[in-house]
Amino acid sequence: MANVHVLDHPLIQHKLAILRDKNTPVKEFREMIGEIAALMCYEATRNLPTQEVEVETPIATAKVRKLAGKKLAIVPILRAGLGMVDAMVQLIPSAKIGHIGLYRDPETHKPVEYYCKLPEDVENRQVFVVDPMLATGGSAVAAIDFLKGHGCRNIVMMNVIGCPEGVKAVQEAHPDVEIYLAALDERLNEHAYIIPGLGDAGDRIFGTK
Ligand code: PRP
Ligand code: URA
Repeated sequence: MANVHVLDHPLIQHKLAILRDKNTPVKEFREMIGEIAALMCYEATRNLPTQEVEVETPIATAKVRKLAGKKLAIVPILRAGLGMVDAMVQLIPSAKIGHIGLYRDPETHKPVEYYCKLPEDVENRQVFVVDPMLATGGSAVAAIDFLKGHGCRNIVMMNVIGCPEGVKAVQEAHPDVEIYLAALDERLNEHAYIIPGLGDAGDRIFGTK
């Protein structure tokens, strides 16, 4: 699939194994989500444009490269996406942060919007949407719809675990969006949970169950 990148780096896979384990406690689960987000961020930002500038080292003038072009925004889908934000901001401290609050209706599995706040100049930014889970894809498609409605044109989706149903939904609705995953799982179960997945990401990050 053209715009899907599954990041199978050994460190990511090792941390993912800990994340999937139902016996992993909340504290370690949170840490793993952050560490995986950082490693994914490293790959997802690989093609950011850079420009040559000069700096004076203590010895001589050096031609070096710095990030150029569009500024970045990180947009977590609440709640679970919040677990990925701090690690990303550590790597990209100048990024602005937007929030899109969506929850899945337990009956219909459709996303319900409850809060949205984006940086004022978001349309001029490269946007990284972050959420640990890409299940039916409903939340991702709604979040990207919302961002495009606010003029965003450069959008990257980062999910820790996806499945074919979610990938297909995003690809059909938003073929221009690159998707980065740490794992592409088998399928959804009858409750629209990813198999094997890791359970409910929000509950495991925030310890709500
Ligand atoms: C989870 C997850 C995604 C969504 C994925 O959030 O964090 O946002 O489900 O499912 P989808 O691809 O079928 O839309 P949830 O709605 O459970 O809310 P929470 O983060 O507040 O727990
Ligand atoms: N949301 C989750 O948190 N987990 C899933 O498996 C599917 C949706």
